[in-house]
Amino acid sequence: MKNIILTGDRPTGKLHIGHYVGSIKNRLKLQNEGNYDEFFIMIADAQALTDNADNPKKIRENILNVAIDYLSLGIDPRKIHIFIQSQVSALTELTFYYANLVTVSRLQRNPTVKQEIKMRDFANSIPVGFFTYPISQAADITAFKANIVPVGVDQLPMIEQTKEIVKSFNRIYGDTLVEPNATLPTNEASMRLPGIDGNAKMSKSIGNCIYLSDSEDELKEKVFRMYTDPLHIKVEDKGHIIGNTVFTYLDAFCEDSHFSKYYPEFNNLDELKEAYQQGGIGDMKIKKFLFNILNELLEPVREKRKYYENNLEEVYNILKEGSMYAQSCANETLREVKKAMKIDYFFEDNLLNDYK
Ligand code: TRP
Repeated sequence: MKNIILTGDRPTGKLHIGHYVGSIKNRLKLQNEGNYDEFFIMIADAQALTDNADNPKKIRENILNVAIDYLSLGIDPRKIHIFIQSQVSALTELTFYYANLVTVSRLQRNPTVKQEIKMRDFANSIPVGFFTYPISQAADITAFKANIVPVGVDQLPMIEQTKEIVKSFNRIYGDTLVEPNATLPTNEASMRLPGIDGNAKMSKSIGNCIYLSDSEDELKEKVFRMYTDPLHIKVEDKGHIIGNTVFTYLDAFCEDSHFSKYYPEFNNLDELKEAYQQGGIGDMKIKKFLFNILNELLEPVREKRKYYENNLEEVYNILKEGSMYAQSCANETLREVKKAMKIDYFFEDNLLNDYK
């Protein structure tokens, strides 16, 4: 069996470091291991429009932002096809046929969609397109016969839904589609990185994100106002780790090698945690440490970003070529799907041939 990897992001804003540890770091690892036949990353503009129908400008503007974020982080367009969802029309066709295999009550049970509906205050005005986006996501994945989908935990319900659609489709119409599996980050803190204010969700509207494109000064300012432990007032006070955003970030980003470079008093994070809990370590000290770690990560990204910002045509061509290639792959699957569903009337004169 072929190994085909597919994943994507909604272009509703610039990407933040939660995207990085939650998914993109994993993609880079997979890219560098090279153990795959095809690798696709999709900019999910059509999905983003399902709850931004009145703001197409925002989605359009962020297409290049997200593409530049990918490329600056080291996603290599010679190894990965980057494409734009709306330019692959086969995906909407597949969505329409898959919708017949899913019930309304099944969609209502999707915990991620449920939570999003609550967060967006949709109440009784849920757009149908938004409500059904898990079906369109199944189309995104199956159109490429992807078997590996690197995502964050919030996307697990979509992968489950996709598996169910694949099973139903193959049962009714014969073996055609491939069941995908999610690959999650292995590090607990990476799965749900909180905002700098300790809020569980990093969100542009709350203003609690650290962006991959933040300058050194912006990064410093954000790390220095991070939520820590409200009971840790004097340096000598015993500190708490749980619910302390700086430590959650250290759990996600810190490696032993960072200590010799930036904090030689300790050998590893366990030692630092132990000492912090005993008292005697100021919050400024741990914030400086975190700043150094994050800045080391973002510094080369800033350099590459400058290059792509000055060579937008190159980014544009990567997206255009990626989208054309994706279209040809998805068309091939659509053809197989239509054949399996017996709606392949004009392929090789099939409808006429029934009567011969
Ligand atoms: N739902 C994903 C997100 O919000 C984006 C997405 C769309 C996606 N289609 C996908 C992810 C297919 C993985 C596979 O980030």
